[in-house]
Amino acid sequence: HGLPGRFLARAARAGDPVARMLRERDLREQPYAVHDRLRAAGPLVPSALGLVTASHAVAQEVLRSDRFGVGFDGSAVPGLLGRALRFADELDASGVAERPSMLVVDPPDHTRYRRLVGRAFTPRATAAFEPMIRRTADALLDDLTGADGPVDLVDRYAAQLPVLVIAELLGVPTDRRADFLRWGAAAAATLDPGLPLRRYVAAERGLRAMHGFLRDHFDHLRRDPGDDLVSRLVGLSGEEALTERELHATVLLLLGAGFETTVNLLGNAVVALDAHRDQWDALRAEPAGWANAVEEALRFDSPVQLTSRAARVEVEVAGRRLSPGTRVTLLLGAANRDPDVFPEPARFDVTRRNAREHLAFSAGVHYCLGAGLARLEAEVALRALSERFPRLRIAGLPVRRDLRTLRGFEVLPVSLR
Ligand code: HEM
Repeated sequence: HGLPGRFLARAARAGDPVARMLRERDLREQPYAVHDRLRAAGPLVPSALGLVTASHAVAQEVLRSDRFGVGFDGSAVPGLLGRALRFADELDASGVAERPSMLVVDPPDHTRYRRLVGRAFTPRATAAFEPMIRRTADALLDDLTGADGPVDLVDRYAAQLPVLVIAELLGVPTDRRADFLRWGAAAAATLDPGLPLRRYVAAERGLRAMHGFLRDHFDHLRRDPGDDLVSRLVGLSGEEALTERELHATVLLLLGAGFETTVNLLGNAVVALDAHRDQWDALRAEPAGWANAVEEALRFDSPVQLTSRAARVEVEVAGRRLSPGTRVTLLLGAANRDPDVFPEPARFDVTRRNAREHLAFSAGVHYCLGAGLARLEAEVALRALSERFPRLRIAGLPVRRDLRTLRGFEVLPVSLR
């Protein structure tokens, strides 16, 4: 989405609903009415972002099709990985062919990257992290127990848990987590289409700081490897070896994806449950329901609102012939409220039978590698929170993060008793 902010601004002024939704804070905060209008306009609607879809069937078809690719061009996309790439370029003077992270490449490169880290995210490997996640959540809740007045649940819990967990998993020092959170928050904006220049500069700084940290960390692991995932990636040799640039892109993706998204799921879930108090109480009585509650929270208010693909060859979608290169933006948050798949989609219902059919983790070859981990973290975190503070209530105005692709809260004041 290498759109200049000015282009989006002009389209918004001309009334383009997608550009307006991305530009105007109130529409961005409540995008669901815009999604409904787009859905009513048809399965593929032209907009400032090219064709967009709010349809679950079309989004799923595109994500699963090998006729579409990510259409990533490192020189034009000011996305997180685009920046990572260009910075890593400066690290990697040897001039190897461009090889960014798995999120932004198509098979066969994608397959290779994903295989290298996939072993760390199998269901069995993920389940083995449960005790660590539980311990981490409990320790954070212990710290909250003494609090008298309202606390910011994002700052004290929802943001802390994912960053601690992914740092543990990757074997990066958890004592740098305040830095990660600051850098990650700046960098998250680079996923947004039409980023204003001011945000772009802040994002760039955040990314550079992260790369600086990673460079030192990799040096350290080369001298003194552990048995963690990053040590293994650094130590790969022969055919499997990753270049410096690939290493940076891969670890940055894992680190960032590990904490910039799960924080949003936790905050969005707490807000939905606060508004549906009977469901919070029902889950406390019947904690086996938390797994499905997490699926419903992912569906109802999706932490990643959109992604896109580009046609690799001429392809027909929803009765329309698309030429190679045509970009389609998939509004995942809208697909997850498609009434053709989810009856009464605007109703939050933790017992919804097919909640898991949501596309919050995408679909196809790029289906979220950390989905199992995110589900486990959310289930453990929300259950532990409800058990420790059953009377928890929102106690002030929640503030949404000022982002377009990611959707979540920056500030979430709650009272604990
Ligand atoms: C990819 C969502 C948590 C690692 C993705 C994609 C989505 C997503 C939508 C695919 C984007 C696309 O198709 O263009 C989420 C959400 C999360 C979450 C909603 C939390 C609620 C995590 C966690 C990790 C992670 C905890 C752990 C490291 C990744 C990776 C990819 C990915 C590595 C790239 C996969 C590939 O390209 O093959 N995620 N994610 N995610 N996610 Fe997650």
